Amino acid sequence: KTIYVLNGPNLNMLGKREPGIYGGKALADVEADCRARAEVLGVAIEFRQSNHEGVLVDWIHEAGEKGAAGIVINPGAYGHTSIALHDAIRAVSPLPVIEVHLSNIHAREPFRHQSMIAPVAKGMICGLGPIGYMLALEALAARA
Ligand code: DQA
Repeated sequence: KTIYVLNGPNLNMLGKREPGIYGGKALADVEADCRARAEVLGVAIEFRQSNHEGVLVDWIHEAGEKGAAGIVINPGAYGHTSIALHDAIRAVSPLPVIEVHLSNIHAREPFRHQSMIAPVAKGMICGLGPIGYMLALEALAARA
C-alpha cells in the first residue's frame, strides 16, 4: 500500500526558511525520516513538493485513481485559502487525508487559524514539527 506525502508552497525552503518557526531540518531530512518510518510500518510512500496549487490538485486525484492508502498533506499557505484543495479531497472521498502543519497555526496570526482542509480531513496535526508527519503516517498505516 502506498501513502502519498504531499507538501505545498515554500516547503522546499524548509531549513533555511524562518528556522525559529519551522525548525532547522530541510525537506529532504523530513523525507528521509518519513521513508525510514514508512519502512518500519511496511508501507510505501510517494513524497512530493510543489509550489503550485493545481499540481497539488492533480496529485490528490492521482492518489485517488491509483488506490493509495491515504494522503498526508502539509498544504502550506494553501491550507488557509484553497477551495480547490478542499474540493479535490472531497472528489477522492473516502480516501483518508491527514493535514499536517509543522507550526501551531492556532498560536500564530489570525489568518492562519482557518483551515480549508480540516473539515474534509480525517484528522489534523499541527505544532509538533516533523514528528507530525510520522504520527500521520502511523495513523494511515494502521488503517491500511
Ligand atoms: C505551515 C503553516 C502555514 O501557515 C504556512 O503558510 C506554511 C507552513 C506549517 O507547516 O507550519 O507554509 O503549513
